[in-house]
Amino acid sequence: MSERKGIILAGGRGSRLYPITLAVSKQLLPVYDKPMIYYPLSTLMLGDIRDFLIITTPEDQVAFQKVLGTGEKWGLNFSFAIQSEPKGLADAFIVGENFIKDRNSVLILGDNIFYGDEVEDSLIRSKLQTSGATIFGYEVSDPNRYGVVEFDNNGNVIEIEEKPENPKSNFAVTGLYYYDSDVVSVAKSIKPSSRGELEITDVNKTYLNNKKLKVELLHRGTAWLDTGTHDSMVDATEFVRVIEKRQGLKICCPEEIAWRKKYIDDEQLLKLAHELNSSDYGEYLRRLVEK
Ligand code: G1P
Repeated sequence: MSERKGIILAGGRGSRLYPITLAVSKQLLPVYDKPMIYYPLSTLMLGDIRDFLIITTPEDQVAFQKVLGTGEKWGLNFSFAIQSEPKGLADAFIVGENFIKDRNSVLILGDNIFYGDEVEDSLIRSKLQTSGATIFGYEVSDPNRYGVVEFDNNGNVIEIEEKPENPKSNFAVTGLYYYDSDVVSVAKSIKPSSRGELEITDVNKTYLNNKKLKVELLHRGTAWLDTGTHDSMVDATEFVRVIEKRQGLKICCPEEIAWRKKYIDDEQLLKLAHELNSSDYGEYLRRLVEK
């Protein structure tokens, strides 16, 4: 198992998508042909992460276990933990303390979708960083909805602000965060914000103040998609559908990644294909082996 531990935060009520999310977790909703959580899971798999903690609400845990299993079928290891109240992103490191132990970790939000070659390169680079933190900035048209990075004239990061009214740049902080083993104690040291949450931005500010924060910018050829509203859910589905149809290749297909990384062999991929036999998705897995 790889050294760095992966955490997927799939808690929260998804209230901005009500009534769709009244009974179903947002991160299990479909984005075109697969559950939303497959996307962040695949992203971390591309970064060679194999040991995961999946944090959910108490009500949704069983459904996630039904979809994901133990991870064994994909050559991975999944542990599950509960976040009883939406206490903020930084709470993931308190919930995950026993899972992380003294290891480095990477957190990804269960509703963040990344696409593009550059992402994989950045993940592999970040994997090798043994101390400090790495976060990713991405240019957006509506930065005030996110954590925002402020730069000085030399391009150095001087501040990060959470959902500022007057953003000092258009660079949003994406929901993908690499940390060294100090992150648990940093998360424990911060205080809840005015919205009552332990903000990941405050964790990042601590690393910044200690001169241990690296901000990598993802360039315009990369897609970072949001699924926060009804419209952006449709946009994400449409984006994935268009690219997949054009190429005949799937975006963020964990079975395919596991097979290409040789975590599973042909026989296991065919078995997985058989279990999904009656769908195009199962057919796609079968064709991978035949090709
Ligand atoms: C959270 C973070 C924010 C970050 C965003 C990325 O926002 O607080 O800094 O830019 O995720 O998706 P929230 O999900 O709380 O709106």
